[in-house]
Amino acid sequence: MKKIISFITIVMVALVSQSFYQKATPSTSLQNGKQTYETYCMSCHMENGEGVEGAFPTLVKAGNLNDKNRLVKIILQGMRGPVTVKSVKYDAEMANIDMTDKEVVDVINYIRNSWGNKAPMINLADIAIAKKVVVKGYQPY
Ligand code: HEC
Repeated sequence: MKKIISFITIVMVALVSQSFYQKATPSTSLQNGKQTYETYCMSCHMENGEGVEGAFPTLVKAGNLNDKNRLVKIILQGMRGPVTVKSVKYDAEMANIDMTDKEVVDVINYIRNSWGNKAPMINLADIAIAKKVVVKGYQPY
């Protein structure tokens, strides 16, 4: 009986630590981010981030994605005012989106590491910082 109990304990510890491990791996963040993207962003920025020229800016190899603080603000506070993305001018509005910090982390990791984009992964601490800093030239919705 003791043996069975300790076996069960070992299995449970293994399962729990595995699920923690999975949460922390980059690939899980990218998988979750893809779903978040499809739910909240794809309708405008399109399936492969290509956007609609003149209406919704592309997210593919757009230099503006390098600034993670600005990205966090755009998602949580929306955006308005003129912006030029890959030589195309936009002067529209994007409403803020009601998402959890975790979803914001995942969706940013996804868009910055898909469709040929490559950037370091971010985490929850980056969101907390981004909320506090001032991003020059950024106008919320
Ligand atoms: C209803 C349409 C719509 C949805 C949904 C939407 N956006 Fe946008 N997005 C826009 C528009 C329009 C702009 C340009 C705003 C402007 O001209 O100031 C924009 C701008 C941006 C920019 C700035 C582009 C740049 O290079 O400066 C980023 C980044 C962005 N969106 C990411 C996202 C992400 C991530 C999501 C989902 C969490 C999302 N958007 C959801 C319409 C949308």
